[in-house]
Amino acid sequence: MCGIVGYIGNQDAKEILLQGLEKLEYRGYDSAGIAIVSEDNNHLFKEKGRIAALREAVDYNVNGTVGIGHTRWATHGAPSQINAHPHQSASKRFTIVHNGVIENYQQLMREYLADVDFVSDTDTEVVVQLIEKFVSEGQSVEGAFRFTLSLLKGSYALALLDREDRNKVYVGKNKSPLLVGISEDVNVVASDAMAMLHVTDQFVELMDQEMVIVTRDNITIKTLAGETIDREPYTAELDASDIEKGTYPHYMLKEIDEQPLVIRNIISKYQDDNNDIKLSADIREAMKEADRIYIIAAGTSYHAGLVGKQLIEKLAGKPVETHIASEFLYNMPLLSEKPLFIFISQSGETADSRGVLVKVKEKGYPALTITNVPGSTLSREADFTLHTFAGPEIAVASTKAYTAQMAVLAILAVDTAKAKGIEIDFDPIQELSIVANAMEALCDQKEKLEKIAREYLAVTRNCFFIGRAADYFVCLEGALKLKEISYIQAEGFAGGELKHGTIALIEDGTPIIAIATQEHVNLSIRGNVKEVAARGAYPCIISMEGLQEEGDTLVIPAVHEYLTTLVSVIPLQIISYYAALHRDCDVDKPRNLAKSVTVE
Ligand code: G6P
Repeated sequence: MCGIVGYIGNQDAKEILLQGLEKLEYRGYDSAGIAIVSEDNNHLFKEKGRIAALREAVDYNVNGTVGIGHTRWATHGAPSQINAHPHQSASKRFTIVHNGVIENYQQLMREYLADVDFVSDTDTEVVVQLIEKFVSEGQSVEGAFRFTLSLLKGSYALALLDREDRNKVYVGKNKSPLLVGISEDVNVVASDAMAMLHVTDQFVELMDQEMVIVTRDNITIKTLAGETIDREPYTAELDASDIEKGTYPHYMLKEIDEQPLVIRNIISKYQDDNNDIKLSADIREAMKEADRIYIIAAGTSYHAGLVGKQLIEKLAGKPVETHIASEFLYNMPLLSEKPLFIFISQSGETADSRGVLVKVKEKGYPALTITNVPGSTLSREADFTLHTFAGPEIAVASTKAYTAQMAVLAILAVDTAKAKGIEIDFDPIQELSIVANAMEALCDQKEKLEKIAREYLAVTRNCFFIGRAADYFVCLEGALKLKEISYIQAEGFAGGELKHGTIALIEDGTPIIAIATQEHVNLSIRGNVKEVAARGAYPCIISMEGLQEEGDTLVIPAVHEYLTTLVSVIPLQIISYYAALHRDCDVDKPRNLAKSVTVE
């Protein structure tokens, strides 16, 4: 989703900003732009499409040591050069970039800006025009910025340049992530630390409804009431080399291949010297205390949450509900007396999940975030965090974060069971190492999986995934992967449910991918396959060693029945990857999607 960078230092800002924007490309965007303050002017360069197009549009004769940049994922107004950020005030004195959604922008337009001609269709332009208006009425720039922020409803991360003062960048934040990076005689602004790691690894977090005046050698954080706040920086523990593709053609393939390593990493992080689970006593206590657990998540993380529910219920005997964050936000079910909320989020920034967290905190309920980004908003604002240790995930389609989430959930479930004194015959550490080996064996079968992708998915219009019990959850994820990157209409169904409607869509040759890793439903899912095959479907059966039958398309290595989803998803990820390649799709940056969805 939208990304922001800003630079104020002693070097030419253009290349630093462009490199920063390239680091944010993975989040998904449809236009990009930068503004550079030179001796006499604010210079604006923006383009629809990729940053490569922006690079071509930049006038390299324009030099300046202050600038801001933006990648836009359209919300208000189509993706176009005009709607791309930065936006300028009518006199062009002020230039702004914005992430988020200003909910009351039309009202503000009517109330304050009736005589202003707007250039773009964006909500952002209102912000910069308001600042200009208040300055023209006699307010200082800082005062006008602060007053404007106080009028805004909705979410924003903003960076503002003033042509008349080349020594400041004004920054403000509410609900959308924004950090200020500090170094010697250089300060930067970034919606994601990753974007500015090439300048500094020291960052200062901003809280909602704060603003910052950033100069070359200082940052001043203030509340909207004008009180100054002191805050220490933290070190962003990201290895810049983790975010390179290396020899891989796509991040997605690299991240698929990293999964065995990620699982081994999780084992080492969650195991103590006695080979027992290492987890904070506070989390254990919170899990034990809760009478019901509410898992809140979106997208792929929601699919991991479905598996998490099953693991916690089966192993720890605790009731769990898994909810889609955006639904829970506006349609909260009746809660139990002592709930514990678990937020699962790769990025830790998903606005829908954060919306729920804010409500949960208002009610005083405890919250645990399972995330790949400790220090992210969801991690900071929850009471506890469990890190998934998957390393930066760059491809929009989530792969290693999903399997890491399920591994951590399995560890959490077992820990809770132990805390409750339940005897279980399941050692997650040992079983997860078997999972890592199985994953590796599947990652080595790319040639075969590429053939399956070609045979079943190179030209099809649609594809259905069917499975029962835990296999159903992985079907949802398999279908999501396929549609995200290949644009094939794909749906995951519970095996028994297909005949209650969707079977009407089966035609001659419709591909059906069936997953069969659960012994207690093996016969039933095979029955479902026969039902669709009898109606012309073209089934691809992925079964598990010990349950296979003659003619199965792929047999995955046997792993514990609680952990099959971590393994059966690997061929689905790889098949989706090759299907997308066969259909000439942009695997790492699928159309319309964003990696980190920071607007509701
Ligand atoms: C976006 C991404 C999905 C992701 C979802 C939730 O839609 O494209 O891949 O699963 O957000 O993200 P989170 O960071 O909260 O796990």
